[in-house]
Parts: sequence; C-alpha cells; structure tokens
Amino acid sequence: MKVLVTGGAGFIGSHLTDTLIKEGYEVVIVDNMSTGKREYVNPQASFYHEDLNGNLDAVFEKEKPEIVMHLAANVDLRKSLQEPIHDATTNILGTINVLEACRKHKVRKIIYTSTSARVGEPVRLPVAEDHPINPLSPYGISKHTAEHYVWMYHQLYGLDYLIFCFGNVYGPRDDPKTTRVTGLFTDKMLRGEAPKIFGDGTQTRDFIYVLDLAEFLVFCIPKTPEHKLFHLANGTQVSVNELFNLLKKYTGFNGEAIHVPAIKGEVHDIVFDTSLVQRELGWKPRHTYEQGARETVEWFKSRMN
Ligand SMILES: NC(=O)c1ccc[n+]([C@@H]2O[C@H](COP(=O)([O-])OP(=O)(O)OC[C@H]3O[C@@H](n4cnc5c(N)ncnc54)[C@H](O)[C@@H]3O)[C@@H](O)[C@H]2O)c1
Repeated sequence: MKVLVTGGAGFIGSHLTDTLIKEGYEVVIVDNMSTGKREYVNPQASFYHEDLNGNLDAVFEKEKPEIVMHLAANVDLRKSLQEPIHDATTNILGTINVLEACRKHKVRKIIYTSTSARVGEPVRLPVAEDHPINPLSPYGISKHTAEHYVWMYHQLYGLDYLIFCFGNVYGPRDDPKTTRVTGLFTDKMLRGEAPKIFGDGTQTRDFIYVLDLAEFLVFCIPKTPEHKLFHLANGTQVSVNELFNLLKKYTGFNGEAIHVPAIKGEVHDIVFDTSLVQRELGWKPRHTYEQGARETVEWFKSRMN
C-alpha cells in the first residue's frame, strides 16, 4: 500500500517513514526542506522537494497514494507569534491544498497530526478530547483550524480520516535549533553549556517518545475506531525542573540552569487524558520519559562522537 507523508524529512515524519518502510508500505515524501534534513530521508522512499502550497496535483497524479499522513507544518509556536501569516499560510492553506489533492485523486484516508497547543490554558486537568478549545497562539489556532477542514472533507467528500493531537514529542533526531526542550537542553548540556529555563521551571508538559508515536501511527492506518480525534501523549506530567535534573544525570552536566522570564502564549501546565485512545485503539506507550530521555541522550552523544 502506498502512503504519502508530508513532512517526511522532519523529526517525526522521518521516523514515521522508517517505520512505514519497515512494515512493508511504499512511501512517498513531500517536503520543502524548510526544517527537514536530507540525511533523515529514507533512501527507499520516493522524495519530492515540494511545498505544501506548490504543485501537489502533479505528485498525487503520478504517485496515486491511498493514504496520506499529513505532518508538514510550521511547528514553531514562538515563530508563529512573530510570523502569523507564514504560520497560517503553511498550516491552514497548506492543509487545504493537501485535502484538495486528496479529493481530486481519490485518496482513501488522511491521518492529520495536531497539537496540544490547540487547547490553550487548560481549565481542567487532565485534558480530555472534549476540553474547551481556546488556543493562545497562531500555531494553536492554525493547527486546530485545519482539523475543521479535515472533518469537512470527510462530511462532503467521504474522505476517511483520523486526527491525533500530540503532547510534546521528543527523541532521536530532535533538532536542538528548535524550541523543543529535551533536544535543546541535551545538546547544550552535552556541550557543557547551561540551558535557559523560562520561568521557575515548575511548568509541566506531557511528553511522548517519537518512536512510540511513529509505531502507533502506522498501527492505526487500517483502524476504524468509533471516534476520529484522539489525544496522544503519555498521560503523565513532567516539570521542566524534573526534566533538567534527569538530563543532568544522563549527560553528566554539573552546572545549573539560567532562569529567564516566562514567555507569553505558552501554557503553564498540561497533561492529557489518554483513556479514549487506550480504550479504542489500545495505546500503551512503551517508554516513560525517564527511559526515552536516556535513549535520547545516547543518540545525541553518538552524533557528537
Ligand atoms: N514535535 C512536537 O512536539 C509536536 C507536537 C505536537 C504536534 N506536532 C505536529 O507534528 C507534525 C510534525 O512535526 P515535527 O516535530 O516533525 O516538525 P519538523 O519541523 O521536524 O517537521 C516538519 C516537516 O515539514 C516540512 N515543511 C514545513 N513547511 C512545509 C511546507 N510549507 N511544505 C512542505 N514541507 C514543509 C519541514 O521541512 C519538515 O521536514 C507537525 O504537524 C506538528 O504540528 C509536533
């Protein structure tokens, strides 16, 4: 079966591609390489250096994918505050372009990846799928807006879909140039540099290991659960201070973090209720944050060597 992965040169998309190929799927990647890396592109995949807002028609016409896994996006929340038009162009218009290609070329199913940033500041924890949606950033708004388009293409054109809203993803291939805390801190601490903690470090996140995520998304391709939108995270809260202390242990860093003021638009605490995805799709993460952080540090070490 042929699967087209948008963003297949990126952090999550490249692991997803590797897993798909391991499981016997044929993979086509569309990526504009804005943050993707050539070295992560699986050589067994067909690769198109193309923008989401470019000529997807030609790619779909040639490749005729049955399934689309749509990951390409601006994923940088802080950049979305500085460049909201770029964010919306990529995440909303780009998704419409993908959906139009799906409609015209009779794709069977789309798996769309959304984010915890859609929720905004939670009014109750853990956050379940029916929690109110009040995104506090252009990124949260654009990713959530695109969900409505996915739903609409299902209603109007019968395009089957699943939507997964991830917690904070971390693991090998995390790019330390992004704002993702595990990769950023690991890279700095292995270089003996102090990482910056925004605020007092008591803020918490719900982390998910990228390989658990990739395996699960591939497992879900043939599934037809009753619900269509699921939270995907470990369902556990890890504070930035706890994370810093764990990484200190694994990296051998013996300094302290630098505390700087908290950033507007970022929530203080978030943790997901994952009971729906457990019940309907059997989700059970294989890695705790502690186990995943250790593997991540090992990966960063091997790259530095
Ligand atoms: N990393 C996380 O913690 C996290 C959390 C929640 C949701 N997500 C979602 O997962 C998806 C993948 O995120 P990631 O962490 O792998 O990010 P990433 O930046 O590593 O990957 C995104 C990929 O999309 C490509 N891309 C960006 N804009 C494009 C465009 N206009 N046209 C074609 N390709 C384009 C990039 O080059 C890159 O390869 C995104 O949709 C993101 O919203 C990520």
